[in-house]
Amino acid sequence: MKLNIAVLPGDGVGPEVTREAVRVLRAVSDFCGYDFRFEESPIGGGASLEFGMPFPLHTRERCLNSSAVLLGAVGGPQFDGLANERRPEAGLLALRQACGCFANLRPAICYEPVANCSPLRPERVLGANILIVRELLGGLYFGEPRAIDVAGKQAYNTMRYSEAEIERVARVAFDLAMRRGKKLVSVDKANVLETSRYWRQVVTRLAAEFPEVALEHALVDSFAMNVITWPTRYDVVLTENLFGDILSDETAVIAGSLGMLPSASIGGKVDLYEPIHGSAPDIAGKGIANPIGAIGSAAMLLRHTAKLYAEAECVEAAIEAVLKTGLRTADLLPPAERSSACSTEAMGKRIADATIEALNSRMAYHAV
Ligand code: NAD
Ligand code: IPM
Ligand code: MN
Repeated sequence: MKLNIAVLPGDGVGPEVTREAVRVLRAVSDFCGYDFRFEESPIGGGASLEFGMPFPLHTRERCLNSSAVLLGAVGGPQFDGLANERRPEAGLLALRQACGCFANLRPAICYEPVANCSPLRPERVLGANILIVRELLGGLYFGEPRAIDVAGKQAYNTMRYSEAEIERVARVAFDLAMRRGKKLVSVDKANVLETSRYWRQVVTRLAAEFPEVALEHALVDSFAMNVITWPTRYDVVLTENLFGDILSDETAVIAGSLGMLPSASIGGKVDLYEPIHGSAPDIAGKGIANPIGAIGSAAMLLRHTAKLYAEAECVEAAIEAVLKTGLRTADLLPPAERSSACSTEAMGKRIADATIEALNSRMAYHAV
């Protein structure tokens, strides 16, 4: 098994959490005798200052010649003054577009040992396992025309979705629902937006191909309330780009912290893996960020790109096992207990060790 992984650490806590994800992937590769190669490339605000653009051509080249891309995070207040095309976020959008990955999978799982870290009551979040399928290459993020029209004293963006764009991401969501609980909720704003009414039509038509999947349509405002009130009611959630961005940060509350959530962006030439959180400027450089979202993204890479299902499960089991021992980064602790928090590196090392243990016991099991 050979994998060339383009590692794009980015800004803020990006390099800190990515290092731990790479540590876990190396542990898997070494233990199993695979050939995983990691090559780092610049992206984001740092790249913009050094190379004049946030997604330099050599980074693009490297990504497109890799088996998968592992990204940390981009952005930060120090880059907010840059011109639009030089902003770190523009680099991330260009990366997603270059990879062509239109389906962004954002699972939100409540791990039992950290159910009490959520501000929601444990009995509400226990057992929650939601998968948001977010459309990643369309909608307001990419629609034209868009501008700040200084002379006209106005600004505008365009939300536009074609049938093909809706259908391809909906198909991914239906396929995933078939492999999970066979429940799909498509979230839109069909009471107001034409794009949403069209979205509903296309999704409803496609549902005929998946008679076993129970499809429900929900309006985004009340869904935002329902998903946090009864998270265990939901299985797969399909939605457009901006709604998915907002709803996925909201579901982090179910998992206990934004630092917990991983993601996989698939469907294009190269798959892209990144935690859903940003560069966390308020804690960057302190070595205290939670690396579990990044490590979970590495597990998704093992599953979706490498098809190493057992290894992916071992990494996920290791995350849960380490949380069960009581190890916590600061974001998972109430302020009064944060002096007992572990570092990013300590969490990463423990998960790497636990991954080896999980792989070992799996091998022992298969040997008998
Ligand atoms: P953020 O996700 O960076 O942080 C929100 C809050 O969550 C902060 O309090 C932060 O400390 C905390 N947090 C985030 N990740 C954490 C982790 N791993 N461990 C512990 N705590 C964590 O969102 P923001 O502050 O709104 O944005 C900061 C910058 O990041 C902006 O420039 C934004 O554009 C960018 N951003 C980038 C990505 C990405 O690269 N994929 C995603 C979101 C935001
Ligand atoms: C995310 C981020 C990005 C997005 C930004 C940084 C462009 O918020 O990955 O959730 O909006 O997609
Ligand atoms: Mn976001």
